[in-house]
Amino acid sequence: MYPFTLQEEFNNLQEIQFLLPSDKISDIKSNLHETGTWANVFWRRRHNHSKREDPELTFVFQQNPSSILEIGAGYGRVLRKLIEGHEWDLDSMRFQGVELCNHFMPYFHRYQRDHPSLKKCDIIFDNFLTTSAFEGTSFDVILFPMNSFPSFDFGSLKAFFLTVHRHLTKNGMFLFSTYKIQDQLLASLDLRKGHDGELLLELGQGAIVAEYYEFLVIETEFGAQIVTYMCYNTFSRDYTLETREIFRHTLDFGLQPRLHEIIETSGFRIKIFDDSSHSLVYGLIKL
Ligand SMILES: C[S@@+](CC[C@H](N)C(=O)[O-])C[C@H]1O[C@@H](n2cnc3c(N)ncnc32)[C@H](O)[C@@H]1O
Repeated sequence: MYPFTLQEEFNNLQEIQFLLPSDKISDIKSNLHETGTWANVFWRRRHNHSKREDPELTFVFQQNPSSILEIGAGYGRVLRKLIEGHEWDLDSMRFQGVELCNHFMPYFHRYQRDHPSLKKCDIIFDNFLTTSAFEGTSFDVILFPMNSFPSFDFGSLKAFFLTVHRHLTKNGMFLFSTYKIQDQLLASLDLRKGHDGELLLELGQGAIVAEYYEFLVIETEFGAQIVTYMCYNTFSRDYTLETREIFRHTLDFGLQPRLHEIIETSGFRIKIFDDSSHSLVYGLIKL
């Protein structure tokens, strides 16, 4: 009976031969975004990212802010687009990022060297929800781009919105994007891509071969959840397998009325609800 327990998911993945007989259930990790593998994988996707359209940015520019915080800044891709995409009075601007995965630090420094405009910004490598780095600090715009929103589990959304609220100036705006899925489709939709993969290459370094398996959408009391398994196999330059890591990752999609209720009880009002691009962009202001 779907949804599966962890053991059932594991058995299922072995049955269909996504997992190897030698893989153990205790090998499965759920902290992808804290690992060096995540930073390596995301960094290696940077050439593809450079073609990405980020619909949130137009709304950031419209706010005419003098301070911007990006949550989940990665290696600095969006911060660079923010700095280079608008005519700022740079002397009075503050561009700040916060990124959970500290393994991005060397990549950020390298990206900063390659793109001197990034000298104007800083990234704190810490968890936005728990860091003390921003105590007493507020920003005109707080941005959570690239459809990263569903990575937050639905149960912790209120704490997330309240933290954002604390660090937003009185007339500030919180902008985030999510996948464009309509409520009526959420519960019944089969988003399953099933088995998929990616070859991630970097000059002078061994290859990472990624395999993904996405389970059917699970209907939950708040909307829907998608469970994905990721296997990252890292090879040396002469193609010896060095590491094999298995991660379980979930995406939570709240039905709009449930999400809007949390937004309002966290002290926000929806000012922007834009579905004219590949993503759904929300802009929240304080009540
Ligand atoms: C999909 S990536 C997007 C990176 C970057 N914004 C971009 O568009 O290139 C989302 C990032 O959010 C980070 N993240 C997730 N939860 C976070 C948290 N609580 N605090 C800070 N960063 C977080 C993840 O580690 C991940 O690198």
